[in-house]
Amino acid sequence: MARWCSRHPFFLFEYTTIKYVVTQNKKLGLLYRILQLTVMGYLIGWVFVTKKEYQAKDDTIESSVRTKVKGVARVNTTDSELWGPEDYVFPKQGEGFLFITTNFIETPNQKMGNCSENPAIPNAKCTKDEDCIEGEAVRAGNGIKTGLCINGTCEINGWCPTEKREHAGPDTVVRQAENFTIYIRNFIRFSQFNFSKSNILNKNDSHFKTCVYDEIADPYCPIFRLGDIVSKAGHSFQEIAVKGGSFSVLIEWSCDLDKDTSNCNPHYSFLFLGSNKSDGYNFRFAKYFKDDAGQKQRTLYKVFGIHLNIMVFGSARKFSIIKTIINIASVLTLMTAGSYLCDIILLCMMKKNTAYRDSKFERIQKNDKESPLEKMPAALKRKFSL
Ligand SMILES: *[C@@H]1O[C@H](CO)[C@@H](O)[C@H](O)[C@H]1NC(C)=O
Repeated sequence: MARWCSRHPFFLFEYTTIKYVVTQNKKLGLLYRILQLTVMGYLIGWVFVTKKEYQAKDDTIESSVRTKVKGVARVNTTDSELWGPEDYVFPKQGEGFLFITTNFIETPNQKMGNCSENPAIPNAKCTKDEDCIEGEAVRAGNGIKTGLCINGTCEINGWCPTEKREHAGPDTVVRQAENFTIYIRNFIRFSQFNFSKSNILNKNDSHFKTCVYDEIADPYCPIFRLGDIVSKAGHSFQEIAVKGGSFSVLIEWSCDLDKDTSNCNPHYSFLFLGSNKSDGYNFRFAKYFKDDAGQKQRTLYKVFGIHLNIMVFGSARKFSIIKTIINIASVLTLMTAGSYLCDIILLCMMKKNTAYRDSKFERIQKNDKESPLEKMPAALKRKFSL
């Protein structure tokens, strides 16, 4: 160690530089320039202008959605002649998933007792009393079998009479539901950039309380007509209203935070979730009460309607010096690929390739008496300070 140091007293203060070999070949020079221009074009045109890779991106959007439905409709049920949001919206809290009733089957005044099961239910069919095992529940049915077979159907103990219809007809459709409006409040946040915004773009503007969304005339209005949502998703409202269906309201945020925040706005789109042969969307609930004689009764509702799922997605971008440097560096590395290609052409394909090779690679004269270490090219030795 001591010997090595005394032989190289200035190794710390040496700088090794690369030797360049210049060839005046026009074709090769042109090729190299074209390769350089291609790489630069790729860096500027694709990486920076198109892909905006000089910006950091945050696509973990944090979001909350609140909804409020407004509108009334004439109906003809045993309980009511007029429905408001308190009657037709489920759940009542106003969430991002909501159901709006557009049709119903009402089975009023059911009492506990014995009656024959709905013959449409396969498990309720029978030919003799032995087919109806007493105490067994009818699978997908409405009650417990009593052990009797009446006219080909098991008798049950349950809420009687049972619901008779399977499908609701167009006669009970809540036609005015087309004009119901849904007010959607959406609050978003991109935590990486500590940026938040709401889709109510100007809280003091009373316009946002009375407007109706329109793709062209009013694209930032947060109030949507139910009929518009269905038709923009490609369906006819009065057709969908009979059996119901699932729809999605998509709210997309795409924010360039290098620009003014007034450019960061929601974009709404609407989607039908289901196939054309969709069974629609329905569920049942009951309202319980006691009649004048004190006997328990209930009204069973099977409701059909529009199920809305409000989905929020998007991303925000902002200039980042680290991303910029990383992208420039990785593209510039591509430039070396250009010099490798030109080197290969120069050394292997050109007519005077031996002349080029000799000036590119300097060889030290062979001397058998020297040790293997001393056979190394001078440049290499200098590099490792041997
Ligand atoms: C919805 O509102 C429009 C305009 O107010 C009205 O012309 C139309 O008849 C309404 N639709 C239904 C089904 O009530």
